[in-house]
Amino acid sequence: MRVRQRLLIVLVGVLVGLAITGPPVVALVAAQAPAAAPPGDYAPADIAYGARLYDAQCTTCHGANGDGVGGVDFRSGKFRNAVTDQDLTRVITNGIQGTGMLAFKFDASELAGTIAYLRNMNSFDRGSVNAGDAGRGRMAFDGKGDCARCHRVGAQGSRVAPDLSDIGAIRSAGSLLRSLTDPTNQMMPINRPVRVVTRDGKVINGRRLNEDTYTVQLIDDQEKLVSLTKADLREYTILTVSPMPSFKSRLTEDELADVVAYLLSLKGR
Ligand code: HEC
Ligand code: HEC
Repeated sequence: MRVRQRLLIVLVGVLVGLAITGPPVVALVAAQAPAAAPPGDYAPADIAYGARLYDAQCTTCHGANGDGVGGVDFRSGKFRNAVTDQDLTRVITNGIQGTGMLAFKFDASELAGTIAYLRNMNSFDRGSVNAGDAGRGRMAFDGKGDCARCHRVGAQGSRVAPDLSDIGAIRSAGSLLRSLTDPTNQMMPINRPVRVVTRDGKVINGRRLNEDTYTVQLIDDQEKLVSLTKADLREYTILTVSPMPSFKSRLTEDELADVVAYLLSLKGR
């Protein structure tokens, strides 16, 4: 609460400052922002996903308000057995020996969500974030989003872009939403597209499946597997702009939340 108030004051100060002095303030703000920000940066999509998991798996003991276990109060923002997010990860995945706190088999996305929610339980307003609907998200994935044109889920779709069959286990909700709205900035290094020109002048655009110092295996834009020796290439360029279009204005905010919920449900082949 206090941090939020302070942030609000900083924000108001910045706006007033902007109004009075104009652009130069911006540089100052950029320099100061990290110090004023709370210790962790939790995406609303992660918090919303965590709230869903918490309701399903934690309320029986910890209660809807986080104070169902004696001596434990999640909304206080303090934990007896944990300081850092790594500590929380350990408590959730190992449980606490000799107590009712069980061990949970959570994947990376679930851990990120649960921890984001535990950290924000005192301020998170359920009404303010749309947790999305996986069923509707699947329809948007196949229909309006036309995602299968590039991506594969299970046995369906193209291999031109990364397979999304278990994306819901390895990427956090926040990361998935950013991939949809700002693909270039969210692009993982291994997913960067490459452009190759062979010695005989053939141009290949593709995506890396494997790479070492001397060789690279690609899947080209015709979905063909290509294995190349780097020394034989005239050109080998790793591009930094994603071939994926941004869906920020192609899908509504509700549709984006639905697609994220669907992606989060994809947890294995
Ligand atoms: C079967 C009951 C039960 C369930 C279900 C349960 N917990 Fe717990 N949890 C406990 C108990 C009891 C403690 C206190 C252990 C102790 O005495 O230190 C605890 C402690 C914790 C702590 C440490 C609190 C602190 O102050 O250090 C965290 C974090 C936690 N639980 C998270 C979770 C999360 C997240 C879930 C759901 C995914 C969950 N728990 C589900 C019973 C439960
Ligand atoms: C024109 C082809 C194309 C379309 C259409 C497309 N994508 Fe992508 N997408 C890509 C490529 C290529 C990448 C890898 C580069 C990157 O991460 O931006 C990617 C990356 C992603 C990632 C990140 C994967 C990771 O490993 O983190 C997600 C999530 C994703 N796409 C989801 C979607 C969804 C959902 C849709 C439909 C709403 C969609 N994409 C439509 C080409 C496409």
